[in-house]
Amino acid sequence: MITGNESKPLVKNVVGDKAKEIISKDEKFIATTTKASPAVVKEAKGIVFEDVDGNIFFDFTSGVGVVNVGHCHPKVTKAIKEQAEKFLHFAGTDFYYEVQANLAEKLCQITPGNFDKKVYYGNSGAEAIEAAIKMARWSTGKKFFIAFIGAFHGRTMGALALTASKPVHKQKFFPWTPGVIHMPYPNPYRNPFGIDGYEEPYELTNAVINYIEYAFNHFLPSDEVAAIFVEPIQGEGGYIVPPKNFHGELKKLAEEHGILFIDDEIQAGFGRTGKMWAIEHFNVVPDVITTAKAMASGIPISACIYPAENDFKVKGAHSTTFGGNPLACAASLATIEVLEEEGLIKNAEKQGEIMKKRLEEMKEKYEIVGDARGIGLMQAIEIVKDKKSKEIEPKLRDEIIERAFRKGILLLSCGQSAIRFIPPLCINEEQLNNAMDLVEEAIKEAVG
Ligand SMILES: Cc1ncc(COP(=O)(O)O)c(C=O)c1O
Repeated sequence: MITGNESKPLVKNVVGDKAKEIISKDEKFIATTTKASPAVVKEAKGIVFEDVDGNIFFDFTSGVGVVNVGHCHPKVTKAIKEQAEKFLHFAGTDFYYEVQANLAEKLCQITPGNFDKKVYYGNSGAEAIEAAIKMARWSTGKKFFIAFIGAFHGRTMGALALTASKPVHKQKFFPWTPGVIHMPYPNPYRNPFGIDGYEEPYELTNAVINYIEYAFNHFLPSDEVAAIFVEPIQGEGGYIVPPKNFHGELKKLAEEHGILFIDDEIQAGFGRTGKMWAIEHFNVVPDVITTAKAMASGIPISACIYPAENDFKVKGAHSTTFGGNPLACAASLATIEVLEEEGLIKNAEKQGEIMKKRLEEMKEKYEIVGDARGIGLMQAIEIVKDKKSKEIEPKLRDEIIERAFRKGILLLSCGQSAIRFIPPLCINEEQLNNAMDLVEEAIKEAVG
């Protein structure tokens, strides 16, 4: 039985017979999705999981940014069990129950901005984005949206229209929802302006803001733009941290033109960066926040939290059967309580500093580590041919991930050539350093 306190992974038999059997059944019956590594989980606690063949791994993916408080946190599982004994479902969109209202009240309190808000509940990140799209169109009467190159906002047809991180997401799916115009994101490591800029005088921010104004002056009437969708830190697109003043300048521009600023915190939110919301690092109060993933530690739920004045106001304009499911609401309230009371957000900041130091050291030591970036426990390294050319090396990146997996560290890629490091926020220093040692071994072996 794993406890979650194991200081090291223990891998003896990967990929074992039982894992092979399950993978082959999965491949036969389940739609092709985004499978990344042959990890077949049996049980998970904290940052640790045991696979079906008895190997012990560290989960540096958090179920793709979901289990921020750790796998199976006892307070979360207790809340789910207690709610399960009462009722599992009661169509919270059509009727009423307290846990749903309590969570909405809590979300309105913990999101930035001292104004009246409302919460729309969905079941996935993409559904929160769809709700934001519909709320923005419905309440403003405007049709256009601005999103950013490199963005990932989901895969349903509205969210897909905003997504622009990899061609594979969009190939063969046109037409998606019309009306989205993409702007360059201020990626300090790679941007079309050729600016190597992260810090003051913030040339990169200025270049992007000027570009949007250029669009306003030529083809995009700003008074027909309903909203700007932006990730505080681009996630799937490669863990891109924009310059410190970027979101502030973007919000200023949005305000000048009466455009809603929609902050997609689906990956970066819920304590991951060492603050409850990643946008807080940029001192910006967004109009709207979308959240999902870590919201209920794995029970599917999402939310779009928006100004009350932008509510749909008409019954039936937007709704869904499962949104605000009672199990998920109970799990979410418990998750928030754990984040607030167990110091996990502070721990994300503290362990994030250690992780940053370790990844920066790898960048110094290895020619193929072109960049190390991120905030808190949302960090990445970018694998390149060499530092000067910055040429992407996705094959080498995948080899590093594969080697790390065989050593017991489960990792995911992001962007064209990056590896993300997103362990649950309950990780301790010893676990983190041991994991970083194994990642470094994987890099060393991959470069030969
Ligand atoms: C920033 C962001 N927005 C939206 C989504 C879509 O969420 P889901 O996969 O739950 O639909 C994701 C998923 O990775 C995401 O990272």
